[in-house]
Amino acid sequence: MRPTVPTESSRVQENVSLVSFNSLALPGRARRYVRITAGEQLTAFTASQRRFVLGGGSNLVLAGDFDGLVLHVAIPGRALAGEDAGAWYVSAGAGENWHDLVQWTLAQGWPGLENLALIPGTVGAAPVQNIGAYGLEAGDRFHALTAFDTRTGEHARFDRAACRFGYRDSVFKREGWHLDGRFVITEVTFRLPKRWQPISAYAELAGELAARGIAQPNARQIADAVIALRRRKLPDPARLPNAGSFFQNPVVDGETAACLLATHPRLAHYPQPDGRVKLAAAWLIEQAGWKGRDLGPVGMYEKQALVLVNRGGATGAEVIALTRAVQRDVRAKFGVELTPEPVFLQSP
Ligand code: EPU
Repeated sequence: MRPTVPTESSRVQENVSLVSFNSLALPGRARRYVRITAGEQLTAFTASQRRFVLGGGSNLVLAGDFDGLVLHVAIPGRALAGEDAGAWYVSAGAGENWHDLVQWTLAQGWPGLENLALIPGTVGAAPVQNIGAYGLEAGDRFHALTAFDTRTGEHARFDRAACRFGYRDSVFKREGWHLDGRFVITEVTFRLPKRWQPISAYAELAGELAARGIAQPNARQIADAVIALRRRKLPDPARLPNAGSFFQNPVVDGETAACLLATHPRLAHYPQPDGRVKLAAAWLIEQAGWKGRDLGPVGMYEKQALVLVNRGGATGAEVIALTRAVQRDVRAKFGVELTPEPVFLQSP
């Protein structure tokens, strides 16, 4: 490994505002902050101290000031790392913008990520919560990643099995590693099969393609349809700060689902391969009366009830108050527990 070169970009700064680094635009300061632009710079941060790994900040609730070190991963680069008879292997630095990577792979003629177009955030965050949309998850196209282990000071390689991907879940979330900042993802490699098949069965996507008169879509057409759908339903964080879906879709056992469906036959639901049933959190939230309703300066978006928006000047405490109110009302009406999708960053 190359020795650490102290560069301008890896210098630690004190008392840095994080408001422009989180897509909900919540106020808060980091006691210490460092921008990482190369994996080798991380060797300077092996000491045991409270730290948080920040990517695009699009899946983050800043509860207030953070009394620790924020490692802001801004490692650039993307390349064709390899190719075999079956697939292209595309690598990207953890700090690359996710949507830019999707667009670049499509422009290069390497399809496979098109269903995940326009998801906010960085490449390094994609495997942490196994981002997904319109019938595809990042884990489906994942090959391997490199992460710096702040405990051992070594770079480690994780293959697909080691990441233990689940619905909006991976080993990096489950073990609390993300918040502890034990592993800092520096580079991710995707495997894009050469025998490409469109994934277009998701009802809304199929409807959009049909409306465009496209029976056999290519990857570019799927990306364009996904982009149009997202633009129509999801607010642009630059105009109306938000963190995408604010709650996970709850997955309940078959019996619970059957009981709920008996009383609420219109409840949108998706049976899972293991017999459990995923329920549409947006539907539960809407039925609980929260669609388009505000609590102080925050609210649940009028066009998609699952998206929490900051209408201006909100604090983390106000986001937490709305989170609890929505959870309480959904629990009271349906007996279902909603789990927030973003990471909550609070000082002890
Ligand atoms: N629905 C409502 N009210 C609403 C919105 C939706 O009742 O205000 C019902 C409808 O019946 C609809 C169903 O909920 O059919 C599902 O809605 P949608 O297709 O919009 O998907 P979602 O389950 O709300 C998930 C992901 C999104 C992803 C879309 C499309 C999660 C937590 N969210 O949303 O991901 O874009 O599917 O695949 O799984 C994100 O994670 O940030 C995200 C935006």
